[in-house]
Amino acid sequence: MSLFQFPRTIYFQRDIFDSLGDILQKEGIRRVLIVSDKIIMGFIGNRLEKTLAPIERELFVDVTPEPTIRQIQNALTALKGRHYDAVLAIGGGSVIDFSKALAVLISNPGADLSTISPFEVINLKTKLIAIPTTSGTGSDVSFGVVLTDDEGKLALGNYALVPEIDILDSSLAPTDKKITAATGIDAFVHSFEAIASNTSTVFTDALAERAIETIFHNLKRAMENEENAKDLMHISATMAGMAFSNSGTASAHALGHSFGATFHITHGTSVGLFLIPSILFNSQNQEAKEKYLRVCRILNVNDIEGLIEEITKFFKDVGQPCRVRDLGIDRQVYASKIEQLISLSMRDSELAFNPVLAGEDDLRKIFTETY
Ligand SMILES: [Fe+2]
Repeated sequence: MSLFQFPRTIYFQRDIFDSLGDILQKEGIRRVLIVSDKIIMGFIGNRLEKTLAPIERELFVDVTPEPTIRQIQNALTALKGRHYDAVLAIGGGSVIDFSKALAVLISNPGADLSTISPFEVINLKTKLIAIPTTSGTGSDVSFGVVLTDDEGKLALGNYALVPEIDILDSSLAPTDKKITAATGIDAFVHSFEAIASNTSTVFTDALAERAIETIFHNLKRAMENEENAKDLMHISATMAGMAFSNSGTASAHALGHSFGATFHITHGTSVGLFLIPSILFNSQNQEAKEKYLRVCRILNVNDIEGLIEEITKFFKDVGQPCRVRDLGIDRQVYASKIEQLISLSMRDSELAFNPVLAGEDDLRKIFTETY
């Protein structure tokens, strides 16, 4: 069964955050639980207090990166069973994922979060609202939720966890060049992977193609904090999120996850390293190749070779590496980790969406050549 899901309403405008109180009232929300972290609250605390003056609210601002199931259970205990019309996440991927999981527990306190899957029915008794503060993860529109337990990371998902309302305001996005670049590259890779994925559809292709075009032309300017470019990057990251959360990411994410976990390199940079190798590998599949050729036309190049050249130039322009050696990682150290990288990648669920079946030998070749 093919389906396409996304938030019911997306509000988007620079500084719309200052109308949050009005939006919540319009949506019939009288009592809200705000979930965030202390760093973000340092930036937006005053604006939040001002706009939410008419709304009954409670704050949980103790989210830390890579939230654990135990932390979410502890948050539920601290909330003492109170009811909220909405759980409102203000933050990056970790805050939004935390909020999704907390909304599940608020609705069903006995739920086992580690077993969340697309195949079970989850009825949320509270609305989920997302306000992303990075332009990249797509968690604000996706069904996915990444949690951590004693065994490690759990990539889970259920369509009930697609936020009902998404509020996009690029005035909340970081102004740091490096963060803007890495998160923008993440969204760029999401778009290419959504296109190549073996579960892509015309809906996801349309969003991903437009996101690629917009990110390609605006990321560098967004890094210079040009407002219009930042607005476009914020929206494009969400378009890419809508695309990949309905089609899946693929080999660049599977290999990038493994690389990032092994060498402690940020997510966007890690998946970016494996974009070009993935395009070359996946072009063996005629359908994927046709789709890359559509992107070639959008970016005004003639063929896959031209596309690779343009992407290489684009990465250089925004200071993102295309090679492992560009990160200063020693050749011998990298070589010694390749078997570990292969086994981690083979276990990554994103590999199932790749249009070309990738075996251990294929991954070995890609990892080796990407040095
Ligand atoms: Fe990603």
